[in-house]
Amino acid sequence: MVRTQLIKPRIREILSRELPPELVSMLPKHWVQIGDVLILPLRPELEPYKHRIAEVYAEVLGVKAVLRKGRIGGEFRETNYELLYGSDTVTVHVENGIRYKLDVAKIMFSPANVKERVRMAKVAKPGELVVDMFAGIGHLSLPMAVHGKARVIAIEKSPYTFRFLVENIELNKVHDRVTAYNIDNRDFPGENIADRILMGYVVKTHEFIPKALSIAKDEAIIHYHNTVPERLMPKEPFETFKKTTREYGYEVEKLNELIIKRYAPGVWHVVLDLRVFKR
Ligand SMILES: C[S@@+](CC[C@H](N)C(=O)[O-])C[C@H]1O[C@@H](n2cnc3c(N)ncnc32)[C@H](O)[C@@H]1O
Repeated sequence: MVRTQLIKPRIREILSRELPPELVSMLPKHWVQIGDVLILPLRPELEPYKHRIAEVYAEVLGVKAVLRKGRIGGEFRETNYELLYGSDTVTVHVENGIRYKLDVAKIMFSPANVKERVRMAKVAKPGELVVDMFAGIGHLSLPMAVHGKARVIAIEKSPYTFRFLVENIELNKVHDRVTAYNIDNRDFPGENIADRILMGYVVKTHEFIPKALSIAKDEAIIHYHNTVPERLMPKEPFETFKKTTREYGYEVEKLNELIIKRYAPGVWHVVLDLRVFKR
């Protein structure tokens, strides 16, 4: 389970014997646990004690590795976490009855996206064909296949992340419904095949709209994620999507719009449920 919780008195008790009092009050009160790996946000003032702090959190919380929280970035949405304690950061995280194996040090798994993973488990319909253009380790593909009984084509470009995607398909016993491709989704050959498309990406998702339309059936649902500066909301990101769909001979209807999380100061990660259909 991903856990964000209040500091345990035991941690404070141990560390207050070793740290100056002003630093004890700066100890992280919230953290994220993925499987048996902890992601700890640490203030710069705690730098000289970071390894000992990580060790105490690990012992009290019973985890095998501790990472220092950093920013996620780049094409493959890689983490930039510093390993503070332990050596093995590969773990199996169970959420909503699904087993996600991943290397927490290298692959993002955002606790803020949990609602979306749960929501996608409910919207998928048995037998429909879903194409997940940014599959990751199966963040959204797995709930759709496991709970929604949908057939899923999961496309993931990073070879390292892809290894976990393949393992997770086996771990969750959905190999009869999920096919994984280790390619750039722009090279995916299927056309006019998908009932539903997942575009779980940020920052540049709009660049992939034409490809999504070519994969979509004449009528399809697209779950379109993107990051948007607050000053452009609520017109964006729908306006850009609509403009592109029109250029490609499609119409689009907005069914729903949800905020997933704050991405950066003044920038939101949102998801739009869109029905597209050929004119
Ligand atoms: C941030 S993860 C998102 C996982 C999941 N869709 C979600 O919303 O939780 C995006 C994934 O897309 C992959 N990716 C980025 N560009 C891609 C491309 N052009 N084709 C296929 N996969 C791509 C990245 O490697 C990464 O694993």
